[in-house]
Amino acid sequence: MKSSDINNKCANIIGDFSKGKEDRKEDNMFYPEEIIEEVRQRNDIVDVISSYVKLKKTGSNYMGLCPFHSEKSPSFSVSGMKQMYHCFGCGVGGNVFTFVMEYENYSFVEAVQYLAERSGVQLPKVEMTPEAKRQADIRNRILEVNKEAAKYYVYQLHTKQGEKALAYLKDRELSEETILKFGLGFSSKYSDDLYQYMKKKGFGDNLLKETGLFTIDEKRGVNDKFWNRVMFPIMDMNSKVIGFGGRVMGDGKPKYLNSPETRAFDKSRNLYGLHLARQSRSRAMILCEGYMDVIAMHQAGFSNAVASLGTAFTGLQANLLKRFADQVLLLYDSDEAGIKAALRAIPILKEVGLPAKVVSLKPYKDPDEFIKAQGKEAFQQRLDEAMNSFYFEIKVLERGFDLSDPEQKTKFYNEIAKKLLQFTEKLERDNYIEAIARMYHIAYADLEKLVNHYGAQMVVTPNMERRMQQEQRNQKKEDGLRKAQKILLTWMIEEEGLFQKISAFLTEEDFKEEPYHIVAQALFQQFREKQEINPAKIINQFESKEEQSEVASMFNRDLSEELTKQEKERALNETVLRIKSHSLEYRKSHATDIGELQNIIKEQAELQKLHISL
Ligand code: UTP
Ligand code: MN
Repeated sequence: MKSSDINNKCANIIGDFSKGKEDRKEDNMFYPEEIIEEVRQRNDIVDVISSYVKLKKTGSNYMGLCPFHSEKSPSFSVSGMKQMYHCFGCGVGGNVFTFVMEYENYSFVEAVQYLAERSGVQLPKVEMTPEAKRQADIRNRILEVNKEAAKYYVYQLHTKQGEKALAYLKDRELSEETILKFGLGFSSKYSDDLYQYMKKKGFGDNLLKETGLFTIDEKRGVNDKFWNRVMFPIMDMNSKVIGFGGRVMGDGKPKYLNSPETRAFDKSRNLYGLHLARQSRSRAMILCEGYMDVIAMHQAGFSNAVASLGTAFTGLQANLLKRFADQVLLLYDSDEAGIKAALRAIPILKEVGLPAKVVSLKPYKDPDEFIKAQGKEAFQQRLDEAMNSFYFEIKVLERGFDLSDPEQKTKFYNEIAKKLLQFTEKLERDNYIEAIARMYHIAYADLEKLVNHYGAQMVVTPNMERRMQQEQRNQKKEDGLRKAQKILLTWMIEEEGLFQKISAFLTEEDFKEEPYHIVAQALFQQFREKQEINPAKIINQFESKEEQSEVASMFNRDLSEELTKQEKERALNETVLRIKSHSLEYRKSHATDIGELQNIIKEQAELQKLHISL
């Protein structure tokens, strides 16, 4: 390749890759409601989705193949009138924001920014405190230097000096495409090459000091931190270069040198490869140990692989993964350190609600070696065979006991029983007792007895059991109530005329559970103001795509066909009664004066006479 080609390609990946997203801010930002609604209205949902999915007009809707699950016949429907989409196959749905959030894995704010840009809506600048401004400014300038450094390293890799480095990467079986995709580079042998380059570019010493790319010494002056290493730029999830890892070519020490943390580089809240992995369609993420592992996996087609940054996995990273995944496959090295790392990561993932599975690569050390030796099909098979994290914990525990010795075996079973108590839900616990009993040829009843024995030893247990039962009962009641609120709102949206009838009995304040309370507020308000309903607008009020999807599903049910008029009338009255009496109960228990209490009691009596006819 000519070096100008390389420069162009590299500019695409580092540097200008994130063009358009350039000024996109992350969290904690809010735009006024009117602006959000304007952005929504300026982005016709049929237009937007058409650029991702082939749609065909059928009746008043458009249909296509759902991009969120695999299917052969179209069940993905987009309504231009409602400005919403819904998949009858997998149940996803929402407005135009939900779609780009789901498809591009954007946060709500990112989705608003993306669609604003697309339709030329000027978003207001967010007010920042002077200190925040200064910080952001430094951060941006560090990112600017990082970007230049990354480009420079790529350039070096493709010069004469970089020949050895390029040969090293090729020797590790990386394709040119992969080398470019990950922006791999080379830091030359001169100890202040990068520094001189940056000075020439006009960056000042104070800024350069903040980047962590240079060491400053009174006697020896300023030197590059990285020299004679293969360079791995580390990007955040928006493809900004936030730091670097550099590997020696051969066996020198340290094997990898990493940038220190800077104002732009927080190792605990970034993951290597996430900017690419977030674009993969998979809802599982593969978490592995090193840069080379991630790169080898992506090259082999496993583009959902990420790694932490030479530090232990953190809760912040778990939360990050949760935005893009429902499950995590742990793919740590198959040595002791890797097992320890997996044991540490499992509870951290569990804490944020992400189930984990552990992949074994034995007898190979890591994914890179495995793929080289066995290829991608065999690798996929290992992923498919990944072990449930609880079994993994038990297997590791087992290694500490000699099961041929009855005494140790008994101890081991006792340890298992204690561990089984971590499942507080009875059904789940029973299932695990059953599975483990089978695995170790223990009689189910014996293991269960042992578990209950330890359970009883925990002083709180009888109480806990009762509390859990109570909670379950409350849960059921609550589920029923939630369902009633949802159904009623759906009816009010779908059936003309029903809104007026029902609003004689209920107000938005009777809908106590979220998200229905917010939906009801928006609905009642829209109706008061315009006598009409704009469901897509209501969805703007929710930031997570889960909530958006949940709310959207309320606008996509057609209950009228399922019930006869009488059945419907009865169901309607029961539903209203249920919501109203719950709401009155609530007010009663929160009433502060006797007059209010009397009113509530009167209302409760009147409620017995409630009848709405259709
Ligand atoms: P490994 O030693 O397993 O490296 O460390 P690796 O990924 O297999 O590297 P190759 O295949 O020899 O090139 C796993 C990860 O731990 C971090 C790096 O992120 C590395 O990818 N590490 C390791 C360091 O930060 N410094 C070190 O000295 C070693
Ligand atoms: Mn390796």
